[in-house]
Amino acid sequence: DSPNLQEIHDTLVLIAFEAGRMILAANPNDISTGTKMNSADIVTETDQAVERMITARLKTAYPSYAFVGEETYVAGVTTVTDAPTFIVDPIDGTTNFVHGFPNACVSLGFTLHRRPAVGVVYNPFQDLLFTGIRGGGSYMQRNASLNPGRGQGPRLQLPLAGAATAEGGRTGPPLGDLSTALIAVEWGSQRDGDNFEIKARVFRALTASKENGGGSMVHSLRSLGSAALNLCACAAGQVDIYWEGGCYAWDVAAGWCILNEAGGRMVSGNPGEWDPAVDSRVYLAVRGASEGQKEIAEEFWGVIGEGRM
Ligand code: IPD
Repeated sequence: DSPNLQEIHDTLVLIAFEAGRMILAANPNDISTGTKMNSADIVTETDQAVERMITARLKTAYPSYAFVGEETYVAGVTTVTDAPTFIVDPIDGTTNFVHGFPNACVSLGFTLHRRPAVGVVYNPFQDLLFTGIRGGGSYMQRNASLNPGRGQGPRLQLPLAGAATAEGGRTGPPLGDLSTALIAVEWGSQRDGDNFEIKARVFRALTASKENGGGSMVHSLRSLGSAALNLCACAAGQVDIYWEGGCYAWDVAAGWCILNEAGGRMVSGNPGEWDPAVDSRVYLAVRGASEGQKEIAEEFWGVIGEGRM
């Protein structure tokens, strides 16, 4: 039986609301916090508790499907296969969470043959829900928990065509050149090896003045502190481009589906090679609509040069 994507989506939305309640109930001042790779790679007891809840719900609802979660991932052991797989980040934006910066989300992805098929990203601090189903479009819903109609309530189509809307995001003008772009970039937690230098070079290149005739390379840079929310912002047309080196499958699986369905494009990424040992883990997303996506991506690579990694 092929998985029922709508049903999976509906289940994930309910789980996302439950995760959101747990995240909001946790006081970052009181929770115990640890680190993983380095002091900037933070995990809290809330990340772990939320992942336990999500695992329990999914194992009950879909006992035969595979599960990959950030907090239970084991390097060299956990892999993403062709099987129906949930790929989950209980709190994407943990650094924001521990600092009380209200921009974090639960990111629930579902892949088939290692390709994103369902994505649910929920920021409980803003009660903002993004969802996508392969072939079924992407939606952005504000005040989402007040309308918990399993995505059947007043969902909003991402504003990709027509005028800018009060929901945020914009539709046009179509992608111009880099000099008019708003770009999401992240420092992330990977700063070892030449990672720091590459990221520093990317930031420097993007904020440099243009040599001839003045002007700047880009309008500006933003760091939302969550890969999933950066992808959703790109899908919603709130930023034009998102670049990061060092993401894992759980950071991008859900947002990637939402981006795709919104008409955006993941120009760089490694679907099918989500084993961190293989995947170069450099992600470049460009917002819809499709016109100009290729050109602006090429211009971006040209500006950041070796930052392509
Ligand atoms: C991190 C966030 C951050 C990004 C890192 C991710 P986490 O996820 O998405 O914005 O820069 O690459 O690891 O650790 O908060 O789940």
